[in-house]
Amino acid sequence: MNDLFSEHSEAKNVWEGYDDEDYRRDQSHWRGYGRWKNDNAWQAIGKSTKKNIELIYCYIGKRLNESEKLCFLEWGPGGGANIFGMRDYAYRYYGVDISEKNLSEANRMISEEGYAEIFKPIRVLSQPSDVLGELDVKIDVFVSTAVFQHFPSKAYGAEVLKVVSKIMAPNGVGVVQIRFDNGNPKFKPIEALSSYKKKHITANSYAIEEFWDLLKLSGFIPLCISNIRSENNYATYFFKNK
Ligand SMILES: C[S@@+](CC[C@H](N)C(=O)[O-])C[C@H]1O[C@@H](n2cnc3c(N)ncnc32)[C@H](O)[C@@H]1O
Repeated sequence: MNDLFSEHSEAKNVWEGYDDEDYRRDQSHWRGYGRWKNDNAWQAIGKSTKKNIELIYCYIGKRLNESEKLCFLEWGPGGGANIFGMRDYAYRYYGVDISEKNLSEANRMISEEGYAEIFKPIRVLSQPSDVLGELDVKIDVFVSTAVFQHFPSKAYGAEVLKVVSKIMAPNGVGVVQIRFDNGNPKFKPIEALSSYKKKHITANSYAIEEFWDLLKLSGFIPLCISNIRSENNYATYFFKNK
């Protein structure tokens, strides 16, 4: 078994240091690059997250409301499509990323939109628990889309959830999109860290019920799973704090 430091370092080599910067920006969802030259496609990421958060709020009997600003934390914001989508609902939006380049781009993008004051970048330097101690308020909403599949192991993802459980407000909610493992070899987790660079797109996955149980083990109440997509093994989990 690898330690979190070596795993983190291997992942950083890809997400901060990949030799093809055009590819890295496209994979990190930078507005105006690669697939995201299509601005509708880029904005659709944040729109879908907004719908999911509206749904989870409905689920817990609340309404998302622009006049009641919230504290968000996103793990892996990349180019900031979700920050853009939620910008009118946030008084603070923590973006936690392994890549300084991605945090700078998210900051550039949201500042250009006139929302510089809401965004607080946090770089994970060596392991997920680096984030503890970086926040001065508890979070109301946790978001992570298209990120857990890039973690170097299931244990690393479990560590991220453990950290999140410590920084979430008592009534906080979470929306996490993962890739699920149903035996399809394309989406099976990597077996050795040495294959991370080659397989970083689909490095990590959990069986549907396994991630549900992991949420419980991490101290959350799982609420539902939506958008199970068999063509790319994506599923979205909704949960709340105890
Ligand atoms: C595919 S992009 C997703 C961006 C954004 N969530 C979206 O849906 O548009 C993956 C992001 O996760 C970040 N990332 C990858 N591994 C990470 C890790 N171990 N810790 C924090 N961020 C990570 C990458 O740097 C990148 O910003």
